[in-house]
Amino acid sequence: MRPAPFSVGILGTSGYAGQVLHALLMQHPCMRPVCIEGRSPTDAGPREVERLVACDAVALCLPREASKEWAAALELAAGAHRPKIIDLSDAFRLEASPRETAAGNPIHYGLPELYGAPPPGTQLIANPGCYPTATLLALRPLLEADLIDAQKLVVHGASGASGAGKGLAEHLHFCNLSENVFPYKVGEHRHQPEIEQHLGHGAQISFVTTLLPLVRGLSVTAFVEPKAGVTPDQLREALVERYLDHRWVTVLTEAGQGLGLRHVHGSHQGVLAVGPRQSGGHIPVFASIDNLMRGAASQAVHNLNLWFGLFAGLGLPAPLENPAGIPAAAGSLGRGLMYA
Ligand SMILES: NC(=O)c1ccc[n+]([C@@H]2O[C@H](COP(=O)([O-])OP(=O)(O)OC[C@H]3O[C@@H](n4cnc5c(N)ncnc54)[C@H](OP(=O)(O)O)[C@@H]3O)[C@@H](O)[C@H]2O)c1
Repeated sequence: MRPAPFSVGILGTSGYAGQVLHALLMQHPCMRPVCIEGRSPTDAGPREVERLVACDAVALCLPREASKEWAAALELAAGAHRPKIIDLSDAFRLEASPRETAAGNPIHYGLPELYGAPPPGTQLIANPGCYPTATLLALRPLLEADLIDAQKLVVHGASGASGAGKGLAEHLHFCNLSENVFPYKVGEHRHQPEIEQHLGHGAQISFVTTLLPLVRGLSVTAFVEPKAGVTPDQLREALVERYLDHRWVTVLTEAGQGLGLRHVHGSHQGVLAVGPRQSGGHIPVFASIDNLMRGAASQAVHNLNLWFGLFAGLGLPAPLENPAGIPAAAGSLGRGLMYA
């Protein structure tokens, strides 16, 4: 007999991330979504709070302050049974420890390839943001391998408009977005501290972001300064080595069309590439993801799979191995052992 599926309460199903998470859980073989209405615990009422507490996990697809309020209310309401909480906002990401000190912290930073499965004792997963996910996948292995200078990182991010959520704002009007590209939140992007903290190694980044006339998709171009004698090939090899067992990260042989956001649309894939050294000495490192999938909802499913002890890939789209026919670097398709 098939075991009863895990129930996952979702708060925020009327938002972009909540909608995608709901759709993924609807076709997940071992989880079922439980949608809860209510903008606050008081608004939802005690019955809805009880329904949530009875779930195996609760996903908060809400703005930061609402996530904090719901997480506190769930903790208060929980008796012997305490649901696992996964938060898609940035309310808890800075409290989640860098990987080196993760043991014993009840808040786990949920970037599976870099931080692994939630350790025992985890009470809440802080699901990483979309820019942090792309930047960390591209750069953290290079810092771990001591191949690049941590203080001289220049990162340009570009995102489709769904990254801003469904709230109305003038710069998101069709007439401003369509056939247009412009920088936004220059010098004040809220993801910068999260990226620096989770890059570790004393990393400091110069970070600017551009809004693209797309619904979804996010790309990061990082200019890194290699340590003396380090070549682009060595950077690529370090990424290939780091992601050998991780099928949802593809390292391409060359930077180009394979990084196109169209290819990652709807996928859980992080697609990486390393460009040739520039005449100024920097080497570009690229990452493309779907902000609503790998940057939010599919990352949450990946984390929940690991937290429930399920196969990491359940309910996720199949890995994307050669976008646009651009071959992945030798070895980067992994050994296929863990799929984690
Ligand atoms: N969009 C992305 O690419 C992305 C990526 C990574 C992380 N995130 C994070 O995920 C969270 C959700 O993002 P989103 O893009 O789905 O946002 P969204 O489209 O604006 O949706 C927000 C959801 O939260 C609800 N909500 C709004 N204000 C609220 C409040 N004050 N109290 C309670 N509920 C409220 C909304 O309900 P109503 O319909 O009633 O307004 C809606 O269901 C955010 O923290 C965001 O930073 C988003």
